[in-house]
Amino acid sequence: MRIDKMLANLGFGSRKEVKKLLKDGAVKVNDRVIKDAKEHVDPEKDTVTLHGEAVEYKEFIYLMMNKPPGVISATEDNHDQTVIDLLEMEDAVFSPFPVGRLDKDTEGLLLITNDGQLSHRLLSPKKHVPKTYFAVIDQEVTEEDVEAFKHGVVLDDGYETKPGELKILKSGTRSDIELTITEGKFHQVKRMFEAVGKRVVYLKRLTMGPLELDESLELGEYRELTDEEIESLMEYEVK
Ligand code: URA
Repeated sequence: MRIDKMLANLGFGSRKEVKKLLKDGAVKVNDRVIKDAKEHVDPEKDTVTLHGEAVEYKEFIYLMMNKPPGVISATEDNHDQTVIDLLEMEDAVFSPFPVGRLDKDTEGLLLITNDGQLSHRLLSPKKHVPKTYFAVIDQEVTEEDVEAFKHGVVLDDGYETKPGELKILKSGTRSDIELTITEGKFHQVKRMFEAVGKRVVYLKRLTMGPLELDESLELGEYRELTDEEIESLMEYEVK
């Protein structure tokens, strides 16, 4: 890969800005100053430094965000802020996108990556990747609901859902629940509760496959996945 392309891809500036860095002698490859933007480097093997700092090349980026309410799970939107707008420039340069969608008012775990293959496999209906949500419901949730969800419920468009595992954490005039589903139909959790005559008043995703929301992330904050988390996703997808 050309050195100017590599540095531009990593967000160190436009090709023109990177050229200037090179001309100024700021870039070394294997301890040799490189001034020619056309010079090729092997990002896997060569040691590249910029102003003496090692430059780590990566093709893929994997981010976990605690999605805040009021923000859209998309890369662009004409009216609303998107989750991509919340990223630092150094991460946005990788052109990542959210893996699946959470509603505008839903919070919690959102995986953001530029790894299309991983995204495709995690979203494939054939893979049945389980996702667990915490929700507050506007009324009492009962054992009958648990049973109904276990068998699958019929949504407003006639679609019969796959079984969902409903756990009642607190039941009352407002109930706290956890629901695990293996599908991702539009507004699925909200519509499953509508199917039993109840309304979701708060929704937060806690897990997606092997990935768990890092509760130390404030709403709108994000971090890179750890190597272990990436590995768990890679292994998970082949199951
Ligand atoms: N189910 C919903 O209803 N909304 C979400 O954002 C995710 C799952």
